[in-house]
Amino acid sequence: MVGPANCVIVLRSDGVSLVLDVLRGQLPAIVHWGTDLGALELADVEALILSNIDPRGPNLIDEPIRLAILPEHWTGWVGRPGLSGSRAGRAWSPKFTATEVRVDGQPVISTEHRATLISAELASVEVEAVDEVAQLELLIAIELTAGGLIRARVDVINKGGDPYAVNDCVIAFPIPPTAREILDFAGHWGKERVPQRRPLTVGVHLREGRKGRTGPDAATLLHVGVPGFSFAEGEIWAVHTGWSGNHTHYAERVFTGIQVIGGGELLLPGEVILQSGQSYATPWIYGAYGRGLDAVAGRFHRFLRARENHPSTTRPVTINVWEAVYFNHDLDRLAELAEAAAAIGVERYVLDDGWFGGRRNDHAGLGDWTVSPEVWPHGLHPLVDKVTGLGMEFGLWFEPEMINLDSAAAREHPDWIMSTGDRMPVESRHQQVINLGIPECYAYIRDAIFDILAEYKISYIKWDHNRDLIDAGTAPEGRPGVHEQTLAFYRLVDEIKVAHPGLEIESCSSGGARVDLGVLERTDRIWVSDCIDPLERQQMIRWTSQLVPPEMLGSHIASGRSHTTGRVHDLSFRAATAIFGHLGIEWDLTTANAQELADLREWISFYKANRWLLMAGDVVRVDFPDPTVVAYGVLAPDRSQAIYTLALLGRSEVRLPGRLRFPGLDPDRRYRIRPIVVGRPPSGLNPPPWWGAITSEFEPYGERRALGWGLPADGGAGLILSGAALASTGVMAADIHPEHAILYQAEALD
Ligand code: DGJ
Repeated sequence: MVGPANCVIVLRSDGVSLVLDVLRGQLPAIVHWGTDLGALELADVEALILSNIDPRGPNLIDEPIRLAILPEHWTGWVGRPGLSGSRAGRAWSPKFTATEVRVDGQPVISTEHRATLISAELASVEVEAVDEVAQLELLIAIELTAGGLIRARVDVINKGGDPYAVNDCVIAFPIPPTAREILDFAGHWGKERVPQRRPLTVGVHLREGRKGRTGPDAATLLHVGVPGFSFAEGEIWAVHTGWSGNHTHYAERVFTGIQVIGGGELLLPGEVILQSGQSYATPWIYGAYGRGLDAVAGRFHRFLRARENHPSTTRPVTINVWEAVYFNHDLDRLAELAEAAAAIGVERYVLDDGWFGGRRNDHAGLGDWTVSPEVWPHGLHPLVDKVTGLGMEFGLWFEPEMINLDSAAAREHPDWIMSTGDRMPVESRHQQVINLGIPECYAYIRDAIFDILAEYKISYIKWDHNRDLIDAGTAPEGRPGVHEQTLAFYRLVDEIKVAHPGLEIESCSSGGARVDLGVLERTDRIWVSDCIDPLERQQMIRWTSQLVPPEMLGSHIASGRSHTTGRVHDLSFRAATAIFGHLGIEWDLTTANAQELADLREWISFYKANRWLLMAGDVVRVDFPDPTVVAYGVLAPDRSQAIYTLALLGRSEVRLPGRLRFPGLDPDRRYRIRPIVVGRPPSGLNPPPWWGAITSEFEPYGERRALGWGLPADGGAGLILSGAALASTGVMAADIHPEHAILYQAEALD
């Protein structure tokens, strides 16, 4: 019998303290997660623990309830337990003893009589625990990461002889009673990440993702904060489940007033049954604390940016041909498009769906990953050579986890189609799911992708996934296979990445339906949405950046009339919206007129000149209580420069937008603030007097004279104000027509 662990751990990073109690062999419990408490002694932590014990009273259990990050039912906790499972009805309420703690791999030495205090930064903590009676072991990992995020996950190991069925395993982070307002996201195809708020009341606010993929309707991040929290204000605690399969996010307030936020994988019935010696690993569950939503978002951005292979700031301007040609692949037309793209400064060209097998429309071909000889008699070589010859990178679309019944793969291997075994799942986009959990199937798909990568110079994969996993079992028994499928997807991406260093992968799923840290940890960008209408994209960029930094948001300028909404927008609005993500074009440029091409060229060179800032800066969203105004900016980490935008989404009940604040700058530095006009100015531009010399360069509602990015010939004096003044009083915004946007630049003078 191993002795119980007996220690407390204080982790501090980026303005956050995480204090863990692993005293007397109990599972790790969070004593404090929030604002930095400074250096703590053992006595301080003991005082914190004592201060947190609630009084006993009538009709409460006689022992104080200690809430571990894997909450245990035996303690008297009647909220959602951490681990739910059984051995055919036994061992369903385990009581674990923590036996060993390691911090950054080093065992923590302690005795039964004397607790040890460990203090560290960015550390990784592992706790081993055992229940000898239930014959289960746990390995709990808790980390404080770059950016001040916390994350935790658990391995459950069956040490008994009988099978142990895991029904559910969630991790819970305690939040204080001041946090009473929930913000998470809804959404659907073409309209991803729509914010929704509600009060946290007694009970469970549960978001379940049962689509077998993250889903356009995923909670994405579940925040609970002090009522009325905004981008800049109010303490917030947020949870995110880093998993691309079925998953949960929840917030729970129990009758005692104790509150938690948590998450985990959602397991289907009988999906994980551990035989003797087998283990189940939960995904990472992330926690972010901050004052204001920007602070929370910044933690996720810093975490992703700290990845070893995070893409550089020179994110190449991309053209994706989907909305230009759809399935109509024709070499001459695609080559002409490549020429038009290269001529305006595009750096990467992505050939989308339709190049393989019998894929002439969306009824056939998925699963047959060889170039269609019918459409491409000389393979993709003529197009790849054309694109690379023009100095652009070449990217290619795949949808590796899917299969059409009308394909050679389905005809040869019907057993590779995921199903419950006795019937075909309902079709979606005329397709089914191919079972990567079957080793032969996995090898077939992997080899097919590797063959294409070996034959062509491909720098980029757009990895699509266009249906929900319904009845996704493994034939012939039909046992649930979503868990295995998700792991196999990760394995495949990892294998491809290892074999092809430098190859970028975009996570696309009917647009933005696979956006989570499980996939983001191993990919380079997401396709935010199939809706490229800038009016919609303004909101999507604003809210998707709650998790994803701008350089990972695929953000394209589409044709004037949106293919998803039918709305028509000026190029200036489409482009001013798109440059706040990884810029691309999704438009048949061969149909663009000379003025549009000239403007596009100007926007692309503006993006290239400023991507060092746009693709690496800190995102700040401006709190502006008028729903017709969306304003935000990106600030250089040293606060020497920033680019802001104000977009008018509609017409307000008041005549003018009023003063626009520019938060986030160094309050003690002086900045020159000035508008930037790229290409043609936004329609209806009516500049305020402070634009000064710049106004003389415009003819209202007319053409702009040839200028460099809106600066007048004299360099554009703009206004000089302190960062404090810009953040608190701001400057009068220009009047523009609705569904248009203006850019501003702030440049430090000292
Ligand atoms: C869905 C994606 O979101 C689109 O961009 C496009 O790649 C299509 N699939 C192709 O089938």
